[in-house]
Amino acid sequence: MRNLIDIKDLTEKEIEELIKVAKDIMLNPEKYSEKCKHKKLATLFFEPSTRTRLSFEAAMMELGGNVIGFSSSSSSSTAKGESVSDTIRTVGAYSDIIAMRHPKEGAPLVASKKSIVPIINAGDGGHNHPTQTLTDLLTISCEKKRLNDLTIGLCGDLKFGRTVHSLITAMSRYKGIKFVLISPEELKTPEYVKTDILKKNNIKFIETNDIEEYINDLDILYMTRVQKERFFNEEDYLRLKDYYILNKEKLKKAKEDLCIMHPLPRVNEISTEVDDDPRACYFKQVAYGKYIRMALILKMLEIK
Ligand code: NCD
Repeated sequence: MRNLIDIKDLTEKEIEELIKVAKDIMLNPEKYSEKCKHKKLATLFFEPSTRTRLSFEAAMMELGGNVIGFSSSSSSSTAKGESVSDTIRTVGAYSDIIAMRHPKEGAPLVASKKSIVPIINAGDGGHNHPTQTLTDLLTISCEKKRLNDLTIGLCGDLKFGRTVHSLITAMSRYKGIKFVLISPEELKTPEYVKTDILKKNNIKFIETNDIEEYINDLDILYMTRVQKERFFNEEDYLRLKDYYILNKEKLKKAKEDLCIMHPLPRVNEISTEVDDDPRACYFKQVAYGKYIRMALILKMLEIK
């Protein structure tokens, strides 16, 4: 039985295959509409979500399967003091596959040790978010037609942003990748990501706090929200939350085929005036998220 806890749980070959299946689903959805008949997906969300949970649920429904779950810990027995392990054992009796989001880093890994059905990490604290990364990879593959030879700017909260950590991990396996890490000093990329992933794989990267400095070099600009819920004090959050606001003016020097991405939700970091720029890809990215999760569910349930 396979789990997806970290993006590295999938080989490059498997990711390529998932992208291929997702593209086929986009073209021929009817071929897939009964593939998961009589199967149930449980979505256990101990933290807020819009896109991740609903795209998982829509994905399962479009495969002809069913969905159960909860969208906050307060509406589950967690509120009565139940442990994650006991919750997981219980839900395994009612479902075939579980997507789980939790504020504690490592909680989905712990859950996977107790589970009798496959576990998908739908985000664990400030750590990882592998299915957002699959969404990002499908987006890059569709929009840029390649996963190598890219200069990728990551901007915003690189410290607590789990989507950033998983995306760096995934992209570091492809050839010709360079990163421009754009953040305020306090929200820099964690040392472990720089040492264990970037330096270890000899990936070129530059750190800056200026979004405009290298904007003309970028093929992808991945904006992120300052992760309010991971801050210890409100004052720091308020000081940093509007550090970057991407607008038309700042994009003047950017490439014509730049791909602007954002895992969403957006707060203020991309001005709405950018939304009709042809380079804005973040709402397309949302749509890709459903197709790649359909491909992932099929893979994890070993359905051909
Ligand atoms: C992200 C997350 O939950 O980490 N959202 C998402 O899943 N699309 C990004 C965020 O919350 O800022």
